[in-house]
Amino acid sequence: MRKILVANPKGGCGKSTIAVHLASWFAMNDEVVFIGDLDRQQSSRHWLDLRPPSQPKIHHWEPTDELVAPPKGCSVAIFDTPAGLHGKRLKQLLGEVDRVIVPVSPSRFDMMASRDFFEELAQVKAVRKDRVGVGIVGMRVDARTNSSRELVDFLEQFELPLLTCLRSTQRYVRALESGVTLFESSDAAAAIDRLQWQPLLEWLVTRRAS
Ligand SMILES: Nc1ncnc2c1ncn2[C@@H]1O[C@H](COP(=O)(O)OP(=O)(O)O)[C@@H](O)[C@H]1O
Ligand SMILES: [Mg+2]
Repeated sequence: MRKILVANPKGGCGKSTIAVHLASWFAMNDEVVFIGDLDRQQSSRHWLDLRPPSQPKIHHWEPTDELVAPPKGCSVAIFDTPAGLHGKRLKQLLGEVDRVIVPVSPSRFDMMASRDFFEELAQVKAVRKDRVGVGIVGMRVDARTNSSRELVDFLEQFELPLLTCLRSTQRYVRALESGVTLFESSDAAAAIDRLQWQPLLEWLVTRRAS
């Protein structure tokens, strides 16, 4: 079973957008996908409620304070989390998953807010021992711009890979409001956006060395 945590210290940086897109991509690839939405805002849960029945099925489970494990039969579990996840709860979740995706916008404020989070992540044994792989996604950022270079420079000090950058487009806003994703859209103009996910998807399905 693949277990993926999407986390970041700040709200509104794209955690739920990433969570539902990954869920849809794995569901399109015939996986039995569950989303566990730990955020009180329940964005992923609402997205699931809006989801047309004609789309590949995505299930939902409710992680509790004590028990975060996904249900039996699940092949891909995606944890969508609230802003500011830290301390015991973060450790508990890191003990459960094998990958962590952290969306970061290339703004100074976002990077500053991410600093403590990366330092906390780096201290957790599961991350130190490489049992959990951490990857960064630049959100609302065009590759090859100054801001994406700043993001790469910033991440170097933590030795964290910038897996991909997703550009800013209203398609993501509409996706979150409609229960479908860019992967499920036939909109040819979204082809570039779909392509931008490839390095992240490859990183997720590659077996880790350890
Ligand atoms: N790459 C993007 N381009 C444009 N809008 C985006 C992008 N990523 C996220 N959004 C929008 O930003 C808002 C916050 O995103 P969301 O995924 O809910 O963040 P979080 O879960 O971290 O709070 C949503 O309206 C979403 O549609
Ligand atoms: Mg969210």
